[in-house]
Amino acid sequence: MRMVDIIAKKRDGNTLSREEIHFFIEGYVKGEIPDYQASALAMAILFRGMTNEEIAILTDEMQHSGEVMDLSTIKGVKVDKHSTGGVGDKTSLVLCPMVAACGAKVAKMSGRGLGHTGGTLDKLESIPGLSVQESDEEFIRQVNKVGLAIIGQTQDLVPADKKLYALRDVTATVDSIPLIASSVMSKKLASGSDTILLDVTFGEGAFMKDIDSARDLARIMVDIGNSLGRNTQAVLSDMNEPLGCAVGNALEVEEAISALHGNGPKDLMELCYTCGSIMLTQAGLAKTEQDARGQLERAVKSGQAFKCFINMVEQEGGDISYLLNPSEFKKADHIVDVISSKEGFISRINALEIGEASMRLGAGRETLDDVIDPSAGIILHKKVGDYIHFGDVLCEIHTCKDESEYKPVIEQIRHAYEYVDVPVNVHPVVWEVVK
Ligand code: URA
Repeated sequence: MRMVDIIAKKRDGNTLSREEIHFFIEGYVKGEIPDYQASALAMAILFRGMTNEEIAILTDEMQHSGEVMDLSTIKGVKVDKHSTGGVGDKTSLVLCPMVAACGAKVAKMSGRGLGHTGGTLDKLESIPGLSVQESDEEFIRQVNKVGLAIIGQTQDLVPADKKLYALRDVTATVDSIPLIASSVMSKKLASGSDTILLDVTFGEGAFMKDIDSARDLARIMVDIGNSLGRNTQAVLSDMNEPLGCAVGNALEVEEAISALHGNGPKDLMELCYTCGSIMLTQAGLAKTEQDARGQLERAVKSGQAFKCFINMVEQEGGDISYLLNPSEFKKADHIVDVISSKEGFISRINALEIGEASMRLGAGRETLDDVIDPSAGIILHKKVGDYIHFGDVLCEIHTCKDESEYKPVIEQIRHAYEYVDVPVNVHPVVWEVVK
């Protein structure tokens, strides 16, 4: 078999066989197939697509390209969630402790941020002392002890995705439904949980720009998960404005802490309660989503959800005094208000622009080697639907960069806001559930 023939076959719009997909994945992981051939195939897949069966085979081959976690020694139902990425998306930091407080076992491996989207690991690492590296044994022990662990993917888990994702990121081949579906589901299946909840984001700040493509992606991933015996569901959530008010690592941890006390922004709380209700029913810990919601609300009100977060951070070496007193988080050198030069109802806050602006302030990385400033980011003072007068504060920026660097970012942020003259109908953050 020759890689060049596989590329040509997909270039011409034909269906690849299991043998051909296996040949590609195995050869690429072993380093026998060079990056230039893998990127040519990724581009052919992006343009030509794949059948659902090809996507399922690609997912399966990727899943088995390395270690597959065995979580059987964790007592109870293991639940997992994954978001396809967004701006201000600190959902995992709030949702996972909430469901763990209700008895679900959360054994979660998360990723880092790249480009305009943030990553859960970077957010967690803004808590001084916390390390997201654990051995498989430590990971399992922690979940058995405190019901919850969020760590970095172990080195051997789905090596095919590690190589392919890095390649796709620099070859403009990220936004392809077959490639996203196989990337997400290979990792979720290899991580070994019993149930999977996918948060498929759509809008300007997400990979899927509209709800129809988000629904197509969700359908494919849900079918793959269920066909392999994992109870899998997906929510389609709106990323046409950042989620919550905080964008940037330590700022998002502070907002997550408020949410765990029940005081988070409305869209974030709603997303966490909706996702949490589905996760508890998937796990058989609640009969109905209404019952699940009651459990989650009690876990927040009683402080149990926050306690679970503290326990997890403590187990991972983090200094919990920052959680008990969030004002201890180191502040950025400059905190500057961004003032509105327009008037009207906000109809959109372009999440892509806000994500990029936050990255330019120091909160994200353009390449994997960039160092993140945990204190950097943006706090939105107004959200979609709010009325703005001239001179109102739209948001504040937090940065250690000097004025010549942050001034152009302020212009980019202003540009992200769109206004209308009439009141805006604000849609709930979750638009649909795909079962
Ligand atoms: N998240 C992933 O894990 N993989 C993708 O391809 C896109 C988003």
